[in-house]
This record gives sequence, C-alpha cells and structure tokens, in this order.
Amino acid sequence: MRVAVFRKAHFNAAHRLYNPKWTDEKNNAVFGLCNNPNYHGHNYELEVKVIGEVNPETGYLIDLKILKEIIYEEVELKYDHKNLNLDTEEFKELNPTAEHICYVIWNNLRKRLESHLDLQVRLYETPRNFVEYPA
Ligand code: NI
Repeated sequence: MRVAVFRKAHFNAAHRLYNPKWTDEKNNAVFGLCNNPNYHGHNYELEVKVIGEVNPETGYLIDLKILKEIIYEEVELKYDHKNLNLDTEEFKELNPTAEHICYVIWNNLRKRLESHLDLQVRLYETPRNFVEYPA
C-alpha cells in the first residue's frame, strides 16, 4: 500500500538575490526588489511530502513525530530567523532563490530519511509563489 504523508513547517528568513559577477545595474534589472542591498524578509511555508509503502506492522509510512523532529533540525534550526546570505554556509556562494532553498532543504531532509522513502519538497516564498523539488 503506497501512500504519501505530509508535514508542514514555517520559517522566517532574510535574503538578498544577486550575482556578484554582474554590475549593480544588471542585478537590479534581473532581481529588482529582491536585490535590495540591506536584505528583506519572507515568511516561508514548507510542505514536505514523504511517499512509500506503509509498514504492515505499524501501519505507518513514517512516524510523524520523527519527521517533525527531522524538519525542525534540518530546516527551522538552520534557517528560521536567519539571514540566509550571511548566517548560513549553504547560501554564502549559492544565490538564495526559492529554487535553491527548496533544493537545499530537499538535500538536508533526504540525508535523514531511510532510502526506501521518496521525498518531495514544496516551498512557498509568498502565498502565490512556490517551488517544488524534484519537479
Ligand atoms: Ni525575496
């Protein structure tokens, strides 16, 4: 019996989108308000989807207490109330777009889940703008 289990999470973080190889003019043209040199914040909403076969002994796909704890350690502790560009190693070189944040979170969580479980991550940067990995 193959099912999907979901867990939502939330974090606030600041970022600035820019490419250090470009001029200020080009960064402004491409990233607009998100290129603000003094950073700006988002209320990120995360949806984690775990897919796989239910364990016949427990009736669980994954214990949600464990999934909650993994998300807390791998997302909230690392990124909540942080400046992604300045406070994290992950985004010192990597532009913290929603695409990249979603991918980094997927990687963080993937390492913590058993290999028989499939994982999909959806990240909302605003209520209307969101990214999913893998696509
Ligand atoms: Ni932004």
